Amino acid sequence: MMNAARKAARGLIRDFGEVENLQVSMKGPADFVSSADLKTEKLLRQELQKARPNYGFLMEEGGEVVGADSLHRWIIDPIDGTTNFLHGIPHFCISLALEREGEIVAGVIYEPIHDEMFHAEKGAGAYLNERRLRVSARRKMEEAVFATGIPFKGRPGHEQFVADATAVMATCAGIRRFGSAALDLAYVAAGRYEGYWECGIRPWDIAAGIVLVKEAGGYVTDMDGKNEMLATGEVVAANDHLHQPILKLLNSVRGPDSQKN
Ligand code: IPD
Ligand code: CA
Repeated sequence: MMNAARKAARGLIRDFGEVENLQVSMKGPADFVSSADLKTEKLLRQELQKARPNYGFLMEEGGEVVGADSLHRWIIDPIDGTTNFLHGIPHFCISLALEREGEIVAGVIYEPIHDEMFHAEKGAGAYLNERRLRVSARRKMEEAVFATGIPFKGRPGHEQFVADATAVMATCAGIRRFGSAALDLAYVAAGRYEGYWECGIRPWDIAAGIVLVKEAGGYVTDMDGKNEMLATGEVVAANDHLHQPILKLLNSVRGPDSQKN
């Protein structure tokens, strides 16, 4: 998985350089970026297929491909942080996860600009390059920094987000919206953020990050505290001290019938 990510990232870095040139053209870089997305996904798929010819796929661009081995599938996001990429903002990554019988057992999140390879395997720990990761040790909400994702045009949950953010901003040291859910989770695993929450998120945005946070000693659930993040599109991740407090806080601003995204 790491080899595939490294290989695909070479083209992505070249394409990112090109975006900076296209930024000033009338047409803008949008079409170019969608073709970079497709190209990267194709390469990742080829590399993973070479290693495990029978596994299935769930891909942001290509959708689901059922494999001869129905127990395993790769979950691929070729560029997480596409809006950043499109705007020439150097904060995006490749996210790859391996699912076995419905459970995420390995994840790789590669951020090519800073050459940060986050990787984790169930039972074997989480790493940033060679360094073992552990979630942050902060215990107080007032010292905690939380990442989140803000819904935009065409996405549901605008009002709920405002309610969530209002509650969290009054309680913690800061909220960040950096634009890549996969990196938000990787940063929780690395102890950079105390936690992260988002609703309306897709499986490929979070699959790899879930195993990273868990293997770094953190907790990841949906809004009900259950392990149904991929199905509900809700994710609440935090270090071991602050997961319950942030979950409780977010639930305090949700009615029993709050909209599911
Ligand atoms: C998006 C990013 C963003 C999150 C959105 C995702 P994309 O993925 O992860 O941080 O807030 O919900 O759709 O479009 O960059 O692959
Ligand atoms: Ca994504």
